[in-house]
Amino acid sequence: MKPPLETAQPTSEPLAALPAWHALEAHAASVRDAHMRDLFATDPDRFARLSFSLGPLLVDYSKNRLTPETLGLLMELAHARHVETARAAMFAGEAINTTENRAVMHVALRNRAARAMPVANVDVMPEVRAVRERLKDFSEKVRSGTWTGATGKPIRHIVNIGIGGSHLGPMMVAEALRDFWREDMMLAFVSNPDRAQLTDALSGLDPAATLFVVASKTFTTAETMANALAAREWLTTALGDGAVAKHFAAVSTNVAAAVQFGLNPDAVFPMWDWVGGRYSVWSAIGLPIILACGYECFDQLLAGGEAMDRHFETAPLDQNLPVILALIGIWYVNFFNMPAQAILPYDHRLRLLPFHLQQLDMESNGKSVTRDGAVVDVPTGPIIFGGGGSDSQHSFFQLLHQGPRVIPCDFIAALKGGDTASRDLLLSNAFAQTEALMMGRSGADIAAHRQFTGNRPSNTLLLDDVSPYTVGMLIALYEHKVFVQGLIWGVNSFDQWGVELGKELAKSLEPALRGDAAASTKGRDGSTVGLVNAYLKSKGKAS
Ligand code: F6P
Repeated sequence: MKPPLETAQPTSEPLAALPAWHALEAHAASVRDAHMRDLFATDPDRFARLSFSLGPLLVDYSKNRLTPETLGLLMELAHARHVETARAAMFAGEAINTTENRAVMHVALRNRAARAMPVANVDVMPEVRAVRERLKDFSEKVRSGTWTGATGKPIRHIVNIGIGGSHLGPMMVAEALRDFWREDMMLAFVSNPDRAQLTDALSGLDPAATLFVVASKTFTTAETMANALAAREWLTTALGDGAVAKHFAAVSTNVAAAVQFGLNPDAVFPMWDWVGGRYSVWSAIGLPIILACGYECFDQLLAGGEAMDRHFETAPLDQNLPVILALIGIWYVNFFNMPAQAILPYDHRLRLLPFHLQQLDMESNGKSVTRDGAVVDVPTGPIIFGGGGSDSQHSFFQLLHQGPRVIPCDFIAALKGGDTASRDLLLSNAFAQTEALMMGRSGADIAAHRQFTGNRPSNTLLLDDVSPYTVGMLIALYEHKVFVQGLIWGVNSFDQWGVELGKELAKSLEPALRGDAAASTKGRDGSTVGLVNAYLKSKGKAS
């Protein structure tokens, strides 16, 4: 048995007590008023030194309020928090998700090399490869029409039913890769238990040509189960109970529950408890992507993720893209008191990226307790928001440019895609926005309301194009960035206990909302009781 790596939980010392932290505080005070305009004016090589190319990805982080000294001090902080040791512990399959006593092995899902990936000293790769083979086989059967619906019609509509990581990741990637979809295959995603979403998704669909994918790691999530039951009713009303086995597939760690739902075991794909929901797009949760784009396309997504893994695992911290971006984020959250981060894709195909990254980041690092159970002594995960850059320019960018609070931004764009004229327009806007945020505009002859302070930081991430490979790189980049930030803050980035209380309370409230005579709101607060009563009144059931 291999001994555990030296320290996967390097959190015993409060962060704000570290000498590296104090050094950063002192440094922040000395550079707080420096304007990026001047940093560029005094250093003609700033872009060359503060940008990074990795295959088809260029990251420009020169438009940040930092100097070479800042980066050096941030690297010292990373060393003080044992980032390299913890990184090795993740790749070694140690149970770094301490509150759930689980390994964190999404990197195994995109490992395409011969390398073994152990969890509890057992190589998981044989199982991972076997599921990949099954996904390939199943998707080829569906796409070729060998797997038909109950009446013999080929499947041409895929409806994914899931929520959270079983929805946002596959939906975002599927939208990003829309140009790779088989022309006659349509894909829809349903997450909301409001029946309106399922109704819209099913409108005009031929049940005989529709396949539902029920995606749920646990197969117990209330919203997903409610939608799966409603979908089954829609299907069986049209085609009878016997059709379920031909029109439903599922992905879950709870294979038995999926089979019990009436599914053909050939269409049930396992995943593992060492894959967190928000890190699961690389698993069989990617099935809708595979059905729409083909297995080769998915394999290229894995290849892009794998390339980023190799970089993250092997590059020294000061030449390591996820580490650099993580530390820049820490710099603003903790030393400039900037609590938010905007994600701004200037590419229609990437427009859902902010939603995926919002879950990835906020569910991972929205924590107030360290891995040791102590209350964190500094702010942690930022508020992530964003939207398609072009549309956002005409809505919330006003605040980004002139609001009193500064919000660091990530601009994401592709060099190629579509026609040249639209790319010219897109990229000129993306680059101009980063320039305006940084340079600002001021002068004695300019009215106050037309002035821009500037000095507002941004990173620009430029992909060669939006392809399975580059999308894979991009997602893995952010995953590792979030991991490194969690390490620095000392939180467990891989649990999500904060979502539990609301779920429990909803479960206990539901009988009262249904109007069950035995249900009571006794002991609940006045506001909640008032809201329940308003709902009951609307149903003609005064409490
Ligand atoms: O409630 C949060 C959460 O547990 C997410 O972390 C997860 O991605 C989502 O719910 C869906 O869970 P499941 O895949 O088990 O249905």
